[in-house]
Amino acid sequence: MNKKGFIFDLDGVIVDTAKYHFLAWKKLAKRLDIDFTEEENEQLKGVSRVKSLEKILAWGNKTISQEQFTALMTSKNTDYLSYISEMHENEILPDVQRILDMLIAKKQPISLGSASKNARTILDRVNLRSHFNAIVDGNDVSKAKPDPEVFLIAAKQLFIKPENCIVFEDSVAGVQAANAANMISIGIGSKTVLGEANYVFKDFTEISDEFLKTLINN
Ligand code: BG6
Ligand code: MG
Repeated sequence: MNKKGFIFDLDGVIVDTAKYHFLAWKKLAKRLDIDFTEEENEQLKGVSRVKSLEKILAWGNKTISQEQFTALMTSKNTDYLSYISEMHENEILPDVQRILDMLIAKKQPISLGSASKNARTILDRVNLRSHFNAIVDGNDVSKAKPDPEVFLIAAKQLFIKPENCIVFEDSVAGVQAANAANMISIGIGSKTVLGEANYVFKDFTEISDEFLKTLINN
């Protein structure tokens, strides 16, 4: 049977943690007296913690010391961790379980490819860690999405060539990273935002078993 490498982003693809990142950044921006909109938040999706804070400070025209920067990063993550500490399996996004089960039944290698340093904690909270053959996250990379590094490491760990990998992503930066890695990019979200992806679906309920079979066999 054909083997493809299936690489899943985490936040906003497997679980709805994008809303918790937004809440935590919004709280931080408020403390700094910076106005932070949903449109700006869209630009933070898939972007590392350091880069996100740099962007928020730039939007708000703020300059701060290195000590303050480190303290703000810690405080954002403490807030974020308090949100995710209550997470359960019911926060796995619709039909993610069906897609993972089908890929496992078809013996397809599966990896996580996330920018988050909290990825393993979250996978444990929702009991999905054992579904993955490889986990590549923010602790394993030196270059953030849209750089393809995270997905190229995932492909290597799955022993699958990049051109035979398929990436599921909800962020613009992530779709760009998948395209730069020469992989098939599947956007999960709105076509308007994720137009650069090879395919876009609103969510996994729109992805049929037939479509997955085609991806495996082509
Ligand atoms: C990405 C999220 O998956 O991980 C971003 O889309 C987040 O919003 C980034 O900033 C880093 O996550 P963490 O958990 O290491 O702060
Ligand atoms: Mg994401």
